[in-house]
Amino acid sequence: MNHFINLKDIPAKDLRRILVDAKKRKNARKKLNKLDPDIGTPLKGKLLIQMFEKSSLRTRLSFFLAISQLSGRTLTLRPDELHLSKGGESIEDTAKILSNFGDAFMLRTDNDEKLEEFKKYLTIPIINGLSPSSHPTQILSDVFTVEEIKKKPISKLNITWIGDSNNVLNSLIAASIKFSFKLKVGCPKKYQPNKNIMNYVKKNKNKIMIYNDPKKAVEGADVIFSDKVISMNDKVNKKKKLRDFKNFKISKNLMKKCPRAILLHCLPRGSEVDENVFKSKQSKVWLQALNRIHVQKSILLYCLGKLR
Ligand code: CP
Ligand code: NVA
Repeated sequence: MNHFINLKDIPAKDLRRILVDAKKRKNARKKLNKLDPDIGTPLKGKLLIQMFEKSSLRTRLSFFLAISQLSGRTLTLRPDELHLSKGGESIEDTAKILSNFGDAFMLRTDNDEKLEEFKKYLTIPIINGLSPSSHPTQILSDVFTVEEIKKKPISKLNITWIGDSNNVLNSLIAASIKFSFKLKVGCPKKYQPNKNIMNYVKKNKNKIMIYNDPKKAVEGADVIFSDKVISMNDKVNKKKKLRDFKNFKISKNLMKKCPRAILLHCLPRGSEVDENVFKSKQSKVWLQALNRIHVQKSILLYCLGKLR
C-alpha cells in the first residue's frame, strides 16, 4: 500500500508509472459511458471513503467517477456529522474505524498536520485531496494534460506559473523537480514562496526562476498555469491582495507574448484570467478538469498496490 500526500515524497519513477497507466486506461475507454467499468474491474469490492473539510466540485466528482470506473464504490463523509470535529473523538479512533470499514481514505483538509496524524493511525492509504500546502492530485493530473496536449515529455517544455504562491504552486514546484522541467514563476515580490520553498528553489537554481514581471515570466512558455489570487480560507485583506496582483492579470496582450502556450487553471476561477483568454483556443481548462478522473484512477491503483 502507498500513501499519496505530497509529490516530493513519492519516487519519480512511481509518478511516471501512474501517468503511463492513466494514459492506457484513458485510451481504452474512448467508447465507454461514464459509469461503465474498466476491463478487469480492478477495484471490485473496494470502498473509498472521502471527506471534504473545504468546498469541492471537481475533486469530489472525479474521485467518485474514478473509483466507480474501477468497479469500487465511494462514500462521502460530512465532517460536521462526525464525532471527530464536534464530539471530541480522536483522530486515532476515527482512523481505526476508517481502516476497518474502508480501503482508502481521501481527505481535503485545512490542516496539513491532520494528514500526517491520520497517516500515523490508518492501516489503509490516505490521499491528499488538497491541503493548505499542496494539491498533489491536481498537479499530477496537470502534468498528464500538458503531455497529452503537447505530445512531448514535460521535461522538454517551458512551464510558467502566474499567480499567488499557494498550495497548487507548491505542488507544481515539487513536480518540476520530479519530472525535471523548467519552471518560471511570475508574482509580486511580496507574494513570493515562503522561506522553506525558496530554499528548495535555491537548490534547483537553473530550473526554477522567480520573476516579479509577468511579461518576463511568460517569455518562451509552452504552458501558462494560473489559479485564484485568493485561495479558500486565505485570511488576507482580499481587496488589497487583488490590487497587488492587478499587473499579473492574464490578458490577451500577455498571451500574445507566448503564442504557442496553452492556458491551464485548476478552477474555480476568480478574475485573474480575462474572459476572452479563458474562453480562447489557448485555454484547455475543461480537458484539464476531466483528466482528473483518469489520473486519480491510477493514483487509487497505486495506493492500493494494484498498478500494472
Ligand atoms: N481544482 C479543484 O480541486 O477543484 P475543486 O475545489 O472543485 O475540487
Ligand atoms: N489554491 C486554491 C485551489 C482550489 C482548487 C485553493 O486552495 O483554494
